[in-house]
Parts: sequence; C-alpha cells; structure tokens
Amino acid sequence: MNAGGWMGSMCILYASLTEYILFFGTAIDTSGNSGRYWANISDTILKGSFRQWKEGELESRMFKPGDTVYHEWGEVTAVQWEEGTWMVEYARGFIPSTLGFALADTLFSTTDFVNLFYILRVYSKALLLEASTSILEWKEFIKESL
Ligand SMILES: *[C@@H]1O[C@H](CO)[C@@H](O)[C@H](O)[C@H]1NC(C)=O
Repeated sequence: MNAGGWMGSMCILYASLTEYILFFGTAIDTSGNSGRYWANISDTILKGSFRQWKEGELESRMFKPGDTVYHEWGEVTAVQWEEGTWMVEYARGFIPSTLGFALADTLFSTTDFVNLFYILRVYSKALLLEASTSILEWKEFIKESL
C-alpha cells in the first residue's frame, strides 16, 4: 500500500470499526507522513528500525526491535523505516477515519485500483467476520437467557 508518501505492506489479523491488529512492514527504505487519526496507534518493532520525528521537535527518535512506538490520537509525525522493517500494529479509535489517509495516495497518486480493491476487500472481510462472530455470540447469549 501507498500512503503519506511511503510504501509498505500489511497483513490484517483483526479489524472492526473501533480496533485493528496487523503486521506492517517494508522491504525497502521508505519515509513520509504518518497521517493524523482519530485513533491511538502503537507499533511494536519485530525487526529493522523505525524513525519517528514528532511535530514541533527538532530531533527525531530511532526505535529498534522490542521497542513500542506510540502514535496518539490527533498527532502527526514524519516516519522512516529501513529496508526489512516489520512490526505489529494495534489501533484503537474510530478506524474508518484512517481510511481516507490510507487510500488517498492510491486514489490520487498511484491510481492502482487493483490495490484499492484489495485493501477495501480485506477490510470488508474483517468487518464481516467481526459482525458474524458478534451475531453468533448474541445468539449464544439469547439461548442461554431462555
Ligand atoms: C487515546 O489515548 C489517550 C491518551 O493516552 C486516552 O486519553 C484516550 O482515551 C485514548 N483513546 C482511545 C480510543 O483509546
């Protein structure tokens, strides 16, 4: 996927309207804008390095495997990943608000509509999975209450 000027790859493990967990990383050196979200995001580095430059600061910070990088609600930073960086990302907030940023580069820069389709498909699939488990849990709850 392309977003904020960087290019990376993600594998969604779980997503709902209020949370997601995914693997994210890149096989090339890449950098750009983190995006400003209505969500708190944390990244735990598995391999490689993640450099974060916060708005209003004069120096950037480098994070290494084992470190967790926090990106708070409403915050924006410059981000830089070296080749071979992989991490686990957890977000909590209003997840659909992250889609505009996540899709803008694809819509207006790369115009890679195949990729756009993949991203929308994987997110819809995750939402459907989440909805179906909720319905099952609800059914169980009703059964137990009767
Ligand atoms: C995001 O983090 C802030 C500060 O830690 C906290 O006050 C807020 O409740 C968090 N929001 C969500 C949706 O977790």
